[in-house]
Amino acid sequence: MRLLFLGDIMGKVGREAVIARLPDLRRRLDLDFVAANAENAAHGFGISEAIATELFAAGVDCVTTGNHIWDKREIVSYIERDQRLLRPINYPEGTPGRGAALLQARDGRRVLVVNLMCRLYMDALDNPFAALDRVLKLNPLGRGAAAIIVDVHGEATSEKMAFGHFCDGRASLVIGTHTHIPTADALIMPGGTAYQTDAGMCGDYDSVIGMEKGPALAKFLRKMPGERLTPAEGPATVCGAFVETDDLTGVALRIVPLRIGGKLAQSMPEVVARRPVLA
Ligand SMILES: [Fe+2]
Ligand SMILES: [Fe+2]
Repeated sequence: MRLLFLGDIMGKVGREAVIARLPDLRRRLDLDFVAANAENAAHGFGISEAIATELFAAGVDCVTTGNHIWDKREIVSYIERDQRLLRPINYPEGTPGRGAALLQARDGRRVLVVNLMCRLYMDALDNPFAALDRVLKLNPLGRGAAAIIVDVHGEATSEKMAFGHFCDGRASLVIGTHTHIPTADALIMPGGTAYQTDAGMCGDYDSVIGMEKGPALAKFLRKMPGERLTPAEGPATVCGAFVETDDLTGVALRIVPLRIGGKLAQSMPEVVARRPVLA
């Protein structure tokens, strides 16, 4: 199966870049399933129903989020209605929405997406390891789900790497979000799980993690309340990772970072045409 995961979609330029490029990416990379983190899609803070609808129409199959999930209050009622929109799984019991969903890939096979939030330098949510363990035990890779994607939304690289090893052999892809900078550690772990500490954001990199650099810099220079941060509006780089999985076992065969457009060094996975499956 061919999967694409896109990192935090940042504001209008991030959204527009994803919407403009995704239909072509789906064709060129022959994608079966696309997931994207969109916790910053609404002007940097949260996501609205209209934006989620736009992303789904552009070819995103599942939207993950993180600490900004509740920034737009209207999302509370929407998340109850649409299982393709996830919030971190380790919010306390009774929180609206869900942190995992079994969704259909292009050919009807089922893909499990899990969204969790780390705890180092972040909100003190419930134990994300325990929550993830429960859902992975219910959906064994290759049996309960043809592929499994885990979005690890966190600040600390150590905690995210620990999640990679925790899932090794049990997920197709464990990929970090939240820090908005793509890391150069895309690899296949010994048990077959593809891993990258941060997918990078889909946004303007001439910025401070996607926000206008002037006001963001001022916040570091003067320890006073300053201007409200707004997303930078230069050309966006669409950032993420492309993963190819084994059809029988669901583990990853390869992972290639994807970076197109904007300021970053470009990276486009090469794919070969697939042979038809013999019955
Ligand atoms: Fe983010
Ligand atoms: Fe975040």
